[in-house]
Amino acid sequence: MKILSIITQKGGAGKTTIATALAVAAQNDGLDTAILDLDDQATSCFWSDIRKEQTPAVKDVKAVRLPHMLDALREAGCDLVILDCPAIHRDIAMDAAHPSDFVLIPTRADVFDIRSMRQTVELMNSINKPCAVVLNFCPPVGKELEDSREIIKALGVKLSPVELHQRKAYARAQQEGMTAQETEPNSLAAQEIIALYKYTLIQLNNEKDVDNELVASRA
Ligand SMILES: Nc1ncnc2c1ncn2[C@@H]1O[C@H](COP(=O)(O)OP(=O)(O)OP(=O)(O)O)[C@@H](O)[C@H]1O
Ligand SMILES: [Mg+2]
Repeated sequence: MKILSIITQKGGAGKTTIATALAVAAQNDGLDTAILDLDDQATSCFWSDIRKEQTPAVKDVKAVRLPHMLDALREAGCDLVILDCPAIHRDIAMDAAHPSDFVLIPTRADVFDIRSMRQTVELMNSINKPCAVVLNFCPPVGKELEDSREIIKALGVKLSPVELHQRKAYARAQQEGMTAQETEPNSLAAQEIIALYKYTLIQLNNEKDVDNELVASRA
């Protein structure tokens, strides 16, 4: 069983959007997938409540019960667990990161978000946890995006070659308990989520590092 955490200090960076979209991508790829929602806001749980499909399974869990829940899911034959973490909570971030095989750190290409994201990167580095930053809400053009990529690379942290752009399809789908690849399968949002899923899978399985071309060719 693989464990993926989605962690960043900043609120609203896209943690739950990415957790739910990757969970659906994994489930559709044949992996028995569960989301554990560690956030008291329980947004992943609300998404699941309005979702018509039974999968992926979504459960809210207190950090103190996380080891027990992970054992139970492993026992039940689950292939992939995605931990949707709350903003700000350093302790919960660490509780989630410790058992994880890989951590995705979403951030907007924005100076304040990148400042918060740096704290998350430092936390992951302090426990040598494999992680990658993924830029979300990317504008179609603009110098900020290139500047953000440079800042992230200068931190020495891995930067996902797949970037998510600001697209209405994400929010529209969420309001129906779905994901963009389900409601608008031909959309650019769907394409970038599938590409992010493929990139994440490679990282989770600790395969050799990949470049843009390989991710694109597998998408
Ligand atoms: N790439 C995107 N384009 C457009 N809207 C997006 C994108 N990513 C996320 N959103 C929207 O932004 C809002 C916040 O996203 P989300 O809830 O995933 O963030 P979060 O990091 O989980 O927030 P929190 O810290 O409160 O848990 C949601 O309404 C979501 O639909
Ligand atoms: Mg959230």
